[in-house]
Amino acid sequence: MAGKLDGKVIMITGGSTGIGHAAVRRCVADGAAVLIADVNEIQGQQVAAEIVAAGGRALFLATDVTQASAVQLAVATAVKHFGRLDGAFNNAGIDGGFTNTVKMTEAAFDRTIAVNLKGVWLCMKYQIEQILAQGSGGSIVNTASVAGLVGTRGGVAYCASKHGVVGMTKSAALDFAKKKIRVNAVCPGIIKTPMLEHMAQQTSTPLEAYAAQEPVGRLGEPREIGDTVAWLLSEEASFITGIALPVDGGWTAL
Ligand code: NAI
Repeated sequence: MAGKLDGKVIMITGGSTGIGHAAVRRCVADGAAVLIADVNEIQGQQVAAEIVAAGGRALFLATDVTQASAVQLAVATAVKHFGRLDGAFNNAGIDGGFTNTVKMTEAAFDRTIAVNLKGVWLCMKYQIEQILAQGSGGSIVNTASVAGLVGTRGGVAYCASKHGVVGMTKSAALDFAKKKIRVNAVCPGIIKTPMLEHMAQQTSTPLEAYAAQEPVGRLGEPREIGDTVAWLLSEEASFITGIALPVDGGWTAL
């Protein structure tokens, strides 16, 4: 049976762990070749090696999304290795240290914006340039968050970055709608990943307390975001562009 991403080449940032890793696995299972771009080299190399050993197509490149030259190299590497670029999942992110507006440091604020917001813009900039040059359209998905749709206590920098991702997604979607390039965002609820475990530790909050915040009464699984992303990247979502889609167990319905 044909996969919904057969023959597509997809770049995934933050693909070494968590949500990005789940998206890498889903996209490969659906037939795509994937360039994994992440600062976490050990896990990224391992993910790519496992996929290749199982007969899939994946390549890891150590990439810091805050550096324009690194992002450019990642796009060029996808093209050199797999021949083209059809889409991307711009997902690399950090929690930035949850604390209130007064206690947030300038350095933590700047770093959060650099990774979560500027990183997504740099990725779109060079990916869309490549897709435009090919002339056959494409699909980009950015990771925002439910914190890109509503405020969260202690999330001043994180919320700013994720609201920014939603705004950039809409602008880029409008910029390139006539060029058959779709740009969407996913807004995950509370997902069981290394980032959540880090936040739980930082704030001394048990994971059960996070699960209790979800109307469905459980944490989301990375797979549940990865599956949505693969669908948005595929032709099955061909009339969808410029949306910020909550995948959140009902969190934003409250
Ligand atoms: P994670 O920590 O498992 O994954 C983040 C990945 O991004 C890691 O592999 C990390 O090495 C990579 N990364 C960090 N800085 C980078 C940089 N400068 N350049 C390249 N790669 C970098 O966390 P998770 O939860 O999978 O996060 C993925 C995305 O989902 C993030 O954008 C996060 O903000 C977002 N998100 C997560 C939620 C959750 O509950 N886990 C909820 C809503 C959004």
